[in-house]
Amino acid sequence: MRPVDYAIETIDLVKRYPTSAKKLRGAPFHFHRGRVPSFTSILRLIKGEKGPFIEALRGVNLKVKRGEVFGVLGPNGAGKTTLIKILCTLVLPDGGEAYVAGYDVVKESKQVLKNVQAVLPGSRGFSWRLTGRQNLEFYALLYGLRDEEAKKRINYLLEFTGLEDRADDMYQQYSTGMQRKLLLCRALLRDTPILLFDEPTVGLDPASAAEFRGLLREMARKEGKTIFLSTHNLYEAQEMCDRIAIIDRGKITACDTPDNIRYMLFDERIVRIAFIDAVFNSKYEKMIDEIQEIYGVHGVTPDISPGGDFRGLSVRVDKNMDLSSILGVIMRNGLKIKTINTLEPTLEDAFIAITRKNPWRPGRPGGGVRWRSR
Ligand SMILES: Nc1ncnc2c1ncn2[C@@H]1O[C@H](COP(=O)(O)OP(=O)(O)OP(=O)(O)O)[C@@H](O)[C@H]1O
Ligand SMILES: [Mg+2]
Repeated sequence: MRPVDYAIETIDLVKRYPTSAKKLRGAPFHFHRGRVPSFTSILRLIKGEKGPFIEALRGVNLKVKRGEVFGVLGPNGAGKTTLIKILCTLVLPDGGEAYVAGYDVVKESKQVLKNVQAVLPGSRGFSWRLTGRQNLEFYALLYGLRDEEAKKRINYLLEFTGLEDRADDMYQQYSTGMQRKLLLCRALLRDTPILLFDEPTVGLDPASAAEFRGLLREMARKEGKTIFLSTHNLYEAQEMCDRIAIIDRGKITACDTPDNIRYMLFDERIVRIAFIDAVFNSKYEKMIDEIQEIYGVHGVTPDISPGGDFRGLSVRVDKNMDLSSILGVIMRNGLKIKTINTLEPTLEDAFIAITRKNPWRPGRPGGGVRWRSR
């Protein structure tokens, strides 16, 4: 064990899966049609590495604080499940280090398992012919919980997840949402300080997903648990997590609060100002030129109706700009302001921008960035 403040820490974590796919980097050492093998393939042979392989994780560095709700967000095949499986000791890493509650996932796996509980989407393991409560009692027995303690904990968890009314129904009568809640109960039976969820709301309808997210957050707050979850649902990450890491092809490309992730790639925002009863004329043309000259303004687009009504302006500005200078010019020109809206990039925009091969830069044509009103 190492004395650390982190619930989870990974250092240069690498995982390679063997594959039958040809033409991958790291192909095995062989003479192909009499060609001389490459230097890297010889080096791999010396190191005893087999190939070809898929690099599911390519040096992942993460630090998750105790009590934090931390999300790993990434597209399909990014390495999210692999990372979770390494953290719950189901899969061994090929390089680097990973610590859970300060314990090494390879050398101290028993201690790791005492501190962590993983919920994987495929993991069911419930008997269809037992009731929800009986299923939990079975697992409590398996986990070595004492009778009284188990009963109390099961009652508490069934109430917490809102399953108590249906607790004595057969598991086969449960809906997907109820089955998921029972999984949550099972994960919480042992009362471990760290919980890992792989795609916690996959397959749930929007209302059940929102309810499930609420339960997870409440549990993290109430019981001070560390929650580490993977998702490709941006909304979920934004809604639930204190911090998120974006993983792309086995590498962490960004790690911050959802808000900061959103802002770090975008150095501008759009301010949309709507006017009351104004007709466009040459005076306003000059006003637009004047606004365009203000420091921090990147561009101004007027909104004029076909009938000549001056409906408003869209002004692209530095993201931290003080808007009073713009509003000052507008008011000096006698325009009455109806509404002011700021359009900011969504987390989805940031996600797409981060995971693109060539990072998007503001102002670049064809950036494909959508804006959402706040
Ligand atoms: N058992 C395995 N054997 C071989 N390759 C694997 C294995 N498990 C995962 N991979 C590969 O490793 C890479 C990462 O897979 P992983 O399941 O971790 O991604 P993921 O981010 O969880 O994706 P998804 O969102 O689809 O669940 C993928 O290229 C996948 O094909
Ligand atoms: Mg997965």
